[in-house]
Amino acid sequence: MKFVSFPECSLDYQDYTPCTDPKRWRKYGMHRLTFMERHCLAVFERKECLVPPPEGYKPPIRWPKSRDECWYRNVPYDWINEEKSNQNWLRKQGEKFLFPGGGTMFPKGVSAYVDLMQDLISNMKDGTVQTAIDTGCGVASWGGNLLDHGILTVSLAPRDNHEAQVQFALERGIPAILGIISTQWLPFPSNSFDMAHCSRCLIPWTEFGGLHLLEINRILRPGGFWVLSGPPVNYQNRWRGWNTTVQEQKSDYDRLQKLLTSMCFKLYNKKDDIAMWQKTSNSSCYNRLAKPDAYPPKCDDSLELDSAWYTPLHPCVVVPDPKLKNISLKSIPKWPERLHVAPERMSEIQGGSASAFKHDDSKWKVRAKHYKKVLPALGTDKIRNVMDMNTVYGGFAATLIDDPLWVMNVVLSYSANTLAIKHLCVRYNCIRIRSKYDMNVEKMSPHLFMPCSFTTNSHLANINLYDLQACKPLLTPNRQKILNKATPIVPTISDACFASAATSLSESYIDK
Ligand SMILES: C[S@@+](CC[C@H](N)C(=O)[O-])C[C@H]1O[C@@H](n2cnc3c(N)ncnc32)[C@H](O)[C@@H]1O
Repeated sequence: MKFVSFPECSLDYQDYTPCTDPKRWRKYGMHRLTFMERHCLAVFERKECLVPPPEGYKPPIRWPKSRDECWYRNVPYDWINEEKSNQNWLRKQGEKFLFPGGGTMFPKGVSAYVDLMQDLISNMKDGTVQTAIDTGCGVASWGGNLLDHGILTVSLAPRDNHEAQVQFALERGIPAILGIISTQWLPFPSNSFDMAHCSRCLIPWTEFGGLHLLEINRILRPGGFWVLSGPPVNYQNRWRGWNTTVQEQKSDYDRLQKLLTSMCFKLYNKKDDIAMWQKTSNSSCYNRLAKPDAYPPKCDDSLELDSAWYTPLHPCVVVPDPKLKNISLKSIPKWPERLHVAPERMSEIQGGSASAFKHDDSKWKVRAKHYKKVLPALGTDKIRNVMDMNTVYGGFAATLIDDPLWVMNVVLSYSANTLAIKHLCVRYNCIRIRSKYDMNVEKMSPHLFMPCSFTTNSHLANINLYDLQACKPLLTPNRQKILNKATPIVPTISDACFASAATSLSESYIDK
């Protein structure tokens, strides 16, 4: 057994997000915001130290209260409070930030906004829409509200002038990830989300030949919805105040509609500032894209549609595989059945079969029971943000579906690509952290807990030590103790790592 210890980083590293580090921005181009993309560090650039907690850090407020308030000292950033006070994203009050639920497109609160959306898409009410992505999420109030409607949303935003927006989301206990639609595919598989949403998210949908919209098409399942609120929707009434003219806004809207039609989306409904389109499940539209003069063209069959790791945005339409009959929104089972039925794409995975899936599902039921025995806080409001660092079919997340926590499923860049197994889309829509050291999910505070299902493959053993060390900044100070305990045993013990670590933990490690 080899013991390794790491020194504490200096205080300047408190907000260290290696793959999206503003200190390195100048190395990258401005074009299409390339500098804000994920640029993970080479092995020799790794910072091998432990990130300290912010000064005055307190155990996070527990879910569900955390959705509405957090400790100021845990996320001490004032930019949004100062610059967006009229939009009610958050408000500082005494030692806390309060989240009144406002946003750029819903300054009076997200509830009425979601109610209107539900009136426009009945599938949001009947359990058909279960997973969503909010691109340009702000402090994730939209995703936070949808949890009340049984819809799991991954909220996504870059590290930009909105300062710690994703960190706020995580501190609130709302599933979120740092990311941007800029030059690369998002770290999610194709045909996986039921809905994608953008409220004034500033993504240049109609520029660059529609590249950004083509990425939305890739990740949405057939029959899925793309919802846009803000300009150019409702340009007739809303063109003022956006530093543009009504004609410019109209032509932007017309361009958007044309692009969407060419990608086989149909306008589904529209009211006030919200418009929604539906991706077709009908293959005849896709067949037209194969014609030589079609723009955008159908993507080449050789393209690996789920690679999702440093894959450039492609100027082509990802077309659902006609052999897959059950991936469209109307044909997949509703929840909770969806969680426990082997997805059609199982057959594409090496060794994948309905029985392998079933076996995994039952295995995780037993394991989770054991985990709860050794860590009684699991399944209670003491643990909210959870990351499964090396998931296969998402069984751990599926087993915990009724607990007051959410799980970010991570498929490692060097392990078999099981991303497209819908089962993974359970609580964290198939998030692919394709690197042993990717901190794209940086700052997973406040209550992160890892089941530690690391592999014992000998070639990965050493790497895993560093993975764990890399995870340390993701953990809340108290949770870091789990890691301290776990670190030395990782190279020799796989799933038992969690058990061993947790057995040696006392309740005092859990935030009181
Ligand atoms: C004006 S705010 C709107 C926030 C939120 N949607 C709301 O309605 O309150 C714009 C958001 O889009 C994000 N954003 C800007 N460009 C983006 C891009 N290319 N990809 C993803 N998010 C982006 C910003 O970081 C910010 O969260």
